[in-house]
Amino acid sequence: YRILLLNGPNLNMLGVREPQVYGAASLNDIVNELENQAATINVSLQHFQSNAEHELIAAVQQSLGQQDFIIINPGAFTHTSIALRDALLAVAIPFIEIHLSNVHAREAFRRHSFLADIARGVICGLGAKGYHYALDAAVSALQTTK
Ligand code: DQA
Repeated sequence: YRILLLNGPNLNMLGVREPQVYGAASLNDIVNELENQAATINVSLQHFQSNAEHELIAAVQQSLGQQDFIIINPGAFTHTSIALRDALLAVAIPFIEIHLSNVHAREAFRRHSFLADIARGVICGLGAKGYHYALDAAVSALQTTK
């Protein structure tokens, strides 16, 4: 299977950014661990982080025919981006939305997601481990659809 991991704005600041909310691990730490997990189960994992909405949209568009599943932490674009939603609908690649923090236990504006209702599932509040759970769930989903 081919799985794309996408991380949105400010996730390049993990480890430095509000560690009491997002944890001490850097994005590199998280991606390296996820790559190890992917390698042990023979899954191809590609990663892309961007602070720019258009770059994330381009990455989604370019996944058409290239990726079987997307794991995405859209950062604040979760709560703002109809364009990212439309890109995911356009390619119709199944995806899991993930957040390190529990977005439901924070400001009210983080409760709404423009992606959640079209996601296979949403993981939030479980910190960096959420990425592992997402990879596990993605592989299970792919195994049952084939
Ligand atoms: C986040 C939650 C978002 O509300 C926030 O804008 C982020 C990170 C998370 O992983 O908890 O940038 O997606």
